[in-house]
Amino acid sequence: MSPTPVTFGLPTQPASYTWEATDEEVAARYGVPIDEILRFDLNTSPQPPALAARILAEGEFEAPLSEYPPSDYRRLVETAARVYGVGTDELLVGAGADEILDLVGKAFLPAGGRAVVPIPTYAMYRVITEQRGATMIAVPRLGRADDYRLDLPATRAAAADADLVWLCSPNNPTGLPEPDGAIAELLDGVAADADAAGRAPAIVLLDEAYAEFVGRSLLDLRFEHPNLVIARTASKAYALAGLRVGFAVARQETIERIAPYRPPGSVSTVSVTVVNAALDEPSAMAANVARVEAERTRLTDALRAAGWDVGPTVTNFLLIDFGTPARAAETATGMLRRGLVPRTFGEGHPLAHCLRLTIRDRAGDDRLIAAAREIEGERR
Ligand SMILES: Cc1ncc(COP(=O)(O)O)c(C=O)c1O
Repeated sequence: MSPTPVTFGLPTQPASYTWEATDEEVAARYGVPIDEILRFDLNTSPQPPALAARILAEGEFEAPLSEYPPSDYRRLVETAARVYGVGTDELLVGAGADEILDLVGKAFLPAGGRAVVPIPTYAMYRVITEQRGATMIAVPRLGRADDYRLDLPATRAAAADADLVWLCSPNNPTGLPEPDGAIAELLDGVAADADAAGRAPAIVLLDEAYAEFVGRSLLDLRFEHPNLVIARTASKAYALAGLRVGFAVARQETIERIAPYRPPGSVSTVSVTVVNAALDEPSAMAANVARVEAERTRLTDALRAAGWDVGPTVTNFLLIDFGTPARAAETATGMLRRGLVPRTFGEGHPLAHCLRLTIRDRAGDDRLIAAAREIEGERR
């Protein structure tokens, strides 16, 4: 049982994303002062880059706030294309990676179609698939001993009659990237099978929301694979989740198939201006990645010393294995009583025995470490 209020999907309602309890709900339910609540469930960064406050204070945006943002987001597209090393016609702006995923679903997943989802992974792939009226073909990833890697033969086989394959590397919530060459091998296999069957290959959406933390990207695979779409975001390493800016990168002809689904002005002028500056001045992002790296080692070591089974990760979150769903739920309750909000996985989820926790800053992580020691102490 999840210790936080969750939204259960009814068969008559569309599939929907499930959030953890809000700060207000946690405060009310556990009697914790609201300003003491710290969120470990969202994989965000504790602080936005200083340039955000500077630009907001100056109040000079790309266009007057009385107007809509530029319809082509031209300056942002130019900056992002330069930063990612792609052409301006190979990139599309969306309201976060989430809107990119939604647009890809609209463009490539017809009602009655099929989408491959290697599980466990980011929940939105299933939500979007089901909201499109398509069928999710769930392909279990390998187990923990194999770093939850993709089951390449099974994923390839499932892709043979699919419209879309959702990939995520580094994978949320398991924390590691696919090994070198694995996704290229899968794309080659999907292309060969489609060729042999005389059909177009499935579109492969590769979600690289956490790519900056691992320092490499598979963007170059688009040259060989026009069916590849890569999603990137300003939410994670750039620490600007509240601005809601993400990107799709693919070959021009593929971007042209997604673009008609783009809503007018879903990304605000403020967001366009600040993210443009953040991409243009990547030192703050690099410092955030370095900070996460140092904190990741410190937090992992301290939680392991407290008795928690922390898995390997290259990202800004940890996956912690508590052995049983009951023990994970008990730990989540222990954290919530202390005002710390974990990401839980509901009953029946393949990771119901785990919690996912964001790496925050030193002070926040110290509260988590203290909580882990106390919770383990109480269990003895
Ligand atoms: C794998 C993955 N993709 C996409 C998102 C959403 O990113 P955005 O904030 O850019 O919509 C998240 C957020 O947690 C994520 O973990």
